[in-house]
Amino acid sequence: MADTLTITDNRTGKQYDIPIKDGAIRATDLKQIKNGTEDTGLITYDPAFMSTASCRSRITFIDGDKGILEYRGYPIEQLAEHSTYLETAYLILFGELPTDAQLKEWTKQIMLHTMLHENIKKLMEGFQYDAHPMGVFLSTVGAFSTFYPDAKQIFDEQSRKKQIHRLIAKVPTIAAYAFRHSIGRPYVYPDNDLSFAGNFLNMLFKMTELKYQVNPVLERALEILFILHADHEQNCSTSAMRGIGSSHVDPYSAMAGAAAALYGPLHGGANEAVLRMLNEIGSVQNIPGFIKRVKAGEGRLMGFGHRVYKSYDPRAKIIKRTADQVFAVTGRNPLLDIALELERIALEDEYFVSRKLYPNVDFYSGLIYQAMGFPVTMFPVLFAIPRTSGWIAQWEEMLLDPEQKIARPRQLYIGAKRREYVALEKRS
Ligand code: CMC
Repeated sequence: MADTLTITDNRTGKQYDIPIKDGAIRATDLKQIKNGTEDTGLITYDPAFMSTASCRSRITFIDGDKGILEYRGYPIEQLAEHSTYLETAYLILFGELPTDAQLKEWTKQIMLHTMLHENIKKLMEGFQYDAHPMGVFLSTVGAFSTFYPDAKQIFDEQSRKKQIHRLIAKVPTIAAYAFRHSIGRPYVYPDNDLSFAGNFLNMLFKMTELKYQVNPVLERALEILFILHADHEQNCSTSAMRGIGSSHVDPYSAMAGAAAALYGPLHGGANEAVLRMLNEIGSVQNIPGFIKRVKAGEGRLMGFGHRVYKSYDPRAKIIKRTADQVFAVTGRNPLLDIALELERIALEDEYFVSRKLYPNVDFYSGLIYQAMGFPVTMFPVLFAIPRTSGWIAQWEEMLLDPEQKIARPRQLYIGAKRREYVALEKRS
């Protein structure tokens, strides 16, 4: 017998059998439940989509209770150990790990597109010297739509592929230019002999030397961080990407919206917020007072808690290990002691334990980025670079899904009942 949910409507006495598939009922199956002919049918109310699946996806699997994260079935731990960011991006986008020939071709295509149009450079120069790099990043991504009008051909596979190459290749260059702009240094052109992460470090930190010498430990750490951030199923920015993309706008415009969602302190801005929080706490002695204030509702412990993970975020575990390797090169970040103690106290505290609040990906990533020489304002940008592959994979999956339409949630109207317009002089 097929799985069904039987609902009795006490208003009418009628019974309905609603099919259950893949652990879900279709909200539109509830529309048949009506209380009279005027009724348009039952809808569901789910602010913040706490319990609503908006798509079927083959890209990323998360088991929040067990702390499992997989891209296309491959555990994140194995990818972080053996893969590179570009290989992982290929996996996320095309569903399979590439063969040697496919990886070479993919890498070649990406490295071919790393340069920015000179007019993009001019556009970026128009920003104030202290402009937040994430604001610069999302504006520049949006501006791309005017440089590549062919991107409007969203149902042309070749055109989509071209935009995918451009986006993955150009986001590190935008990020590096935004960084150099903020510190008043000249932009460094991409060096395509280097790896994806190596070239990014080159564009960020090269000075007058002829060839930038990439530190292999930092290069690998960046690759790992990029792999960990590449996708995370239907989070706030990915939902924005899908939602905006569902209007059939070009991918650059949709991605500008996704990047804007990522900018917020509850999402990709969290690692920036973690660093600010650690600086504010200032020393290990101040931690108990800080925890007390969090428990009293005066702010949050940033880098803790997650909508999906109700155990240790598997990405946080990998990042904690990576931090040790990075600190061996850069020297220990003095804020690490505060972070470790904060984690220890929180994980023993009833408030955090009972709410299943554990460190998330952002708790330690900021410490690594800071040790590598990034200012805190660059943190969300460093998140956006790898998340680009996830956003566009999810965007393409949405476009090709015959069940998808323009995203358009319903509402429960609770405002004023119909009333007549009152002339200005008659209003009290
Ligand atoms: N510090 C203190 N209390 C918290 C925290 C926190 N970081 N996170 C959740 N809570 C409490 C919250 O006050 C609530 O308590 P109560 O039941 O007494 O009202 C309970 O835990 C459930 O919280 P919620 O806000 O309903 O949970 P959510 O699923 O809506 O929020 C979250 C998830 C990530 C927005 C939230 O945990 C948070 O604000 N964390 C801090 C920001 C952060 O680190 N964000 C990065 C997320 S991971 C990277 C990414 O995917 O973007």
